[in-house]
Amino acid sequence: MTQHLPDGSTLAFGAATAAYQIEGAIAEDGRAPSIWDTFAQVPGATRDGLDGRVACDSYHRFEEDLDLVAGMNAGWYRFSIAWPRIVPEGTGRVEPRGLDYYDRLVDAALARGVNPTATLYHWDLPQALEDRDGWLNRDTAYAFADYAMVVHERLGDRVKVWATHNEPWCAAYLGYAAGIHAPGRKEGAAGHRAAHHLNLGHGLAAARLHEAGVTDLGIVHNLAPFWPETPEAAAAADELDAVRNRIWTGPLAHGEYDEGLLRVAPVLADSTLVRDGDLDLVKGSADWMGVNYYTPFRPTLADPSLSVHPEVEAYPGVTPVSFVVREPRTDIGWEVDDRGLEEQLIDAHKATGLPIVVTENGAAYPDTSLDDQDRIGYLRDHIAATERARAAGADVRGYFVWTLLDNFEWAEGYTKTFGVVHVNPEDQTRTPKASYHWLAEHLAGH
Ligand code: NOJ
Repeated sequence: MTQHLPDGSTLAFGAATAAYQIEGAIAEDGRAPSIWDTFAQVPGATRDGLDGRVACDSYHRFEEDLDLVAGMNAGWYRFSIAWPRIVPEGTGRVEPRGLDYYDRLVDAALARGVNPTATLYHWDLPQALEDRDGWLNRDTAYAFADYAMVVHERLGDRVKVWATHNEPWCAAYLGYAAGIHAPGRKEGAAGHRAAHHLNLGHGLAAARLHEAGVTDLGIVHNLAPFWPETPEAAAAADELDAVRNRIWTGPLAHGEYDEGLLRVAPVLADSTLVRDGDLDLVKGSADWMGVNYYTPFRPTLADPSLSVHPEVEAYPGVTPVSFVVREPRTDIGWEVDDRGLEEQLIDAHKATGLPIVVTENGAAYPDTSLDDQDRIGYLRDHIAATERARAAGADVRGYFVWTLLDNFEWAEGYTKTFGVVHVNPEDQTRTPKASYHWLAEHLAGH
């Protein structure tokens, strides 16, 4: 039974961010490099070779950022903790100045009447752990649980709603198989191995956090709806559903990797990787699940006129497909269809039985105009889709807009802007866009 998650009587609203995308201050107060600092230095890894060294400078401007959250009438702020600020070498020495920062942040949120919810891992693995093979090393899962306990010990009296990982699918497959996210490794089945260790890390952390009294522990996934473009692509869509969705919900709900998944990812049947008890630890380990949703996917059997998506090339066992992307699309090229969110929420609740939170939803549109009517349309339609899913029986408690500020969009650098607040990179001035004012008005009635 969750005790602190919104009860669902109405949909709760919040704004979401992530440490590496907004904080900057990468060498301050004892923070050590993360895999994103290292990866961004590789020529061609990120757009324009940019990185998060300054980002939105939120490390110094968090008070102003929390004023913006409160001014938007959002009840919740979802942020992430940077592991390399807390345990800079990944294991061992704890950096008190890193904890002090999040302590101030949490107090500043509460002082404004905003509930803080913390995500423990949003992709910024300490580089020292990657030097020991990162998420391909089982020890990283244990290090994650130790780090989680350190953070909880300091913030747990005030932060009540926790998430372990954000989109571990990206950390595993984009990081270790497709190589388009840090640490930039292209090692095929390594994606599945990393995924298992991320599942294990979640399970280990969840057991210890629950023991320490946490009642509202979740995990955030970018589950994706796969809509076969043609009947011939139906089997491939099911394989994609296995590696993208069931690899997470299977262990969570049933303590297993199902047969369809094992067919495309046979390494998950290797008992030296998936050891006795690992999946039992994950089963039932979450009190809620976050769903990040942006777009549906329409697989078609590899059509040479369309490019094979790099994500798909990264799954050695999966039938090669490409994706048809219909109009309208956002600036990052993702199809806009709010029915995908509705379906995803209903499916996520059915698959797990858990209370669901839309932990991210939003759209990239060019930051050339503050009058972002297209973003307002996207948000309005997706909030309506969330309400439809609730009406259809999905237990959806909250909706977080991605994102508060235009920020470092990973491999895309600063070119793809998702913020409801514009950030001037020259002087860090924050200017709310029309979508911010629209949300503030929409939420005022809540
Ligand atoms: C999901 C990720 O969690 C977030 O970091 C990213 O900026 C958004 N998707 C948009 O791509």
